[in-house]
Amino acid sequence: MATKNILVTGGAGYIGSHTILQLLLAGFKAVVVDNLDNSSKVAIQRVKELAGEYRSNLSLHQVDLRDKPKLEQLFASIRFDAVIHFAGLKAVGESVHKPLLYYNNNLIGTITLLEVMAAHGCKKLVFSSSATVYGWPKEVPCTEKFPLAATNPYGRTKLFIEEICRDIFHSDSEWKIILLRYFNPVGAHPSGQIGEDPRGFPNNLMPFLQQVAVGRRPALTVFGNDYNTVDGTGVRDYLHVVDLADGHIAALSKLDETNIGCEVYNLGTGKGTSVLEMVSAFEKASGKKISLVMAGRRPGDAEILYASTEKAERELHWKARYGIDDMCRDQWNWARKNPYGYESQESAI
Ligand code: NAD
Ligand code: UFG
Repeated sequence: MATKNILVTGGAGYIGSHTILQLLLAGFKAVVVDNLDNSSKVAIQRVKELAGEYRSNLSLHQVDLRDKPKLEQLFASIRFDAVIHFAGLKAVGESVHKPLLYYNNNLIGTITLLEVMAAHGCKKLVFSSSATVYGWPKEVPCTEKFPLAATNPYGRTKLFIEEICRDIFHSDSEWKIILLRYFNPVGAHPSGQIGEDPRGFPNNLMPFLQQVAVGRRPALTVFGNDYNTVDGTGVRDYLHVVDLADGHIAALSKLDETNIGCEVYNLGTGKGTSVLEMVSAFEKASGKKISLVMAGRRPGDAEILYASTEKAERELHWKARYGIDDMCRDQWNWARKNPYGYESQESAI
């Protein structure tokens, strides 16, 4: 069978870099389109090193998705079997202050991609949606049938894109689309060579914890300890990024089946962990004491969010393998080997 070409938008980013490695190891060719706004070429180099004999099956095109002529050129030169679409801006707080930036980048980028895909007859898509589309659910675990709600512009871009995907499938049944609603991806590849390297102030728990542990920040601010949870802190469904990457390979296999339509799957572990439980697991993994500052709730944060994973297990034959201790071990391994992320190597390129 011929090797499949997969276009991976945002493939230099955190989840994208782990996914392209799994794609290469599974025998796919991966073509990355990324404007490198929130990522580094070093991630692509590292993926190549980890991919060994498969390294030549990976290429990077530094292109913005909204640059339609460049995207057209790429589709004219390569026949893609499917697209995995990660590219987008993802900082919830920033989206509240700069909504137009988020609508422009995430919506126009996606619409441009879908137009070019349709024009070239490439109608298989895996899209990165988010558990944020459940808002603050009345109960947990969240099933894919729960009502959808967005509480900020970032979340609305995910909701709108999901709706756009459902609409294009209704207009043209040749499309096969899988919407993956990720819960909280954390950790890093066990090699410690690739991981999450946010530009500027980290918004999420694990990148922040990691920066405290390596001495870049004095303390972790805990947003709220008066929730109705095991210890008062927020509960989330943390998922190892390598498990998440494998979920995309499972989704690609699903796209090969007939009559997929436009389907949605949660990717999570189905287990909830509080902020303080996560801190304690990370302290154990790193041997570092993390200083904490208790603060008020972060606006828009849900109290408890975790996934029902039944649908993904049943229909994608995918189930997370790693637990919290593995996630913290790999996060720490990446952090101690790369305390300043890809930065030190970046300046040498
Ligand atoms: P990331 O920022 O590390 O990766 C996104 C990549 O997209 C970056 O490399 C960035 O440079 C690129 N990009 C952004 N806009 C682009 C554009 N217009 N053209 C070309 N490239 C562009 O983020 P991530 O954590 O890897 O997330 C990947 C996807 O998963 C995003 O769509 C995000 O919203 C979604 N998601 C992430 C999480 C999470 O917690 N990390 C949770 C749920 C959903
Ligand atoms: N938290 C802190 N201190 C911090 C950062 C986070 O206490 O410095 C807490 C939050 O209040 C929350 C938990 O840690 O209780 C997890 O917060 P994250 O910011 O790591 O993750 P969120 O669940 O808020 O959001 C993430 C992504 C979103 C995505 C969502 C889906 O950032 O893009 O998961 O569930 F939509």
